[in-house]
Amino acid sequence: MAACQAAPWAFSKDEGRVTFRRGKHSVTTNFMRDPDTQAAAQPMPILALEKICKRFGAVIVAQDIDLALDEGEALGIIGPNGAGKTTLFGIATGTVAPDAGRVLLNGIDITRLSPDRRCRLGLARSFQIPQPFGGMTVFENTVVAAAFGQDKRERDVYAGCIDILDRCGLAAQANRLAGSLTLIDRKRLELARALATKPRVLLLDEVAGGLTERECASLVALIKDVRASGVSIIWIEHIVHALVAVVDRLAVLHAGAIIASGEPNAVIRSPQVAEIYLGIAADA
Ligand SMILES: Nc1ncnc2c1ncn2[C@@H]1O[C@H](COP(=O)(O)OP(=O)(O)O)[C@@H](O)[C@H]1O
Ligand SMILES: [Mg+2]
Repeated sequence: MAACQAAPWAFSKDEGRVTFRRGKHSVTTNFMRDPDTQAAAQPMPILALEKICKRFGAVIVAQDIDLALDEGEALGIIGPNGAGKTTLFGIATGTVAPDAGRVLLNGIDITRLSPDRRCRLGLARSFQIPQPFGGMTVFENTVVAAAFGQDKRERDVYAGCIDILDRCGLAAQANRLAGSLTLIDRKRLELARALATKPRVLLLDEVAGGLTERECASLVALIKDVRASGVSIIWIEHIVHALVAVVDRLAVLHAGAIIASGEPNAVIRSPQVAEIYLGIAADA
């Protein structure tokens, strides 16, 4: 009887795959009814918008939008004014409630969390229309963001804030009241405040508009740097050459829907982009 009893299969897990071994036989599979193993086989996006719908009265700004950002990825979003781009950031960060759909941060459903809780979980944004505390200095604005976002005492974030202001080209303006800054410096301050929270996911809304070519190049270098430090990024921008210098993937939003997504240069040359920007019909 003993001869009929085969030795049991031994198995080992390695990066989501499972290898079964018995004697000289082995079988490797990536299929197993084990949620942990399946999650390992399919990395979870760091940020996911699922089936998002939103309308303001008769204006539909998001219709069934699915958008996922992988950890470490830089995604660009372009689209005409009024397409719904900024609203999407509002929905992701909690300042705008979606009519339907979910927002997941690292797999956690944050749809009903307040913006401040999302910030402490590592989600930061800059505002297209800058929102500094006008009566506070540039340094104080950055300290408030850093102390809140990192949950630290103010004096423990001072050095980091000076470093961020320097990287954002604002060190010389540190003691100026934020309300007295030019628009471009306010945009720099938006970026500095978002970075000060030490985000895992950074959402940038038109931070390059109005910059000179040189300033734009240094902004691109800074955002590349941030990305290289492990921060995942979504960047909405009209300055397409700046965007393409940074992002891995480009999505096009039009009338509340994503109409193209993929390798940036291919998307820019796509018929959909020609149609919405130049009015050339896709099937012409
Ligand atoms: N709070 C709001 N109330 C009413 N309409 C809004 C509101 N926010 C945005 N909209 C409208 O939604 C549309 C999309 O706006 P937005 O998301 O800012 O577009 P984009 O950033 O692509 O230019 C626009 O028509 C805008 O006027
Ligand atoms: Mg906008």
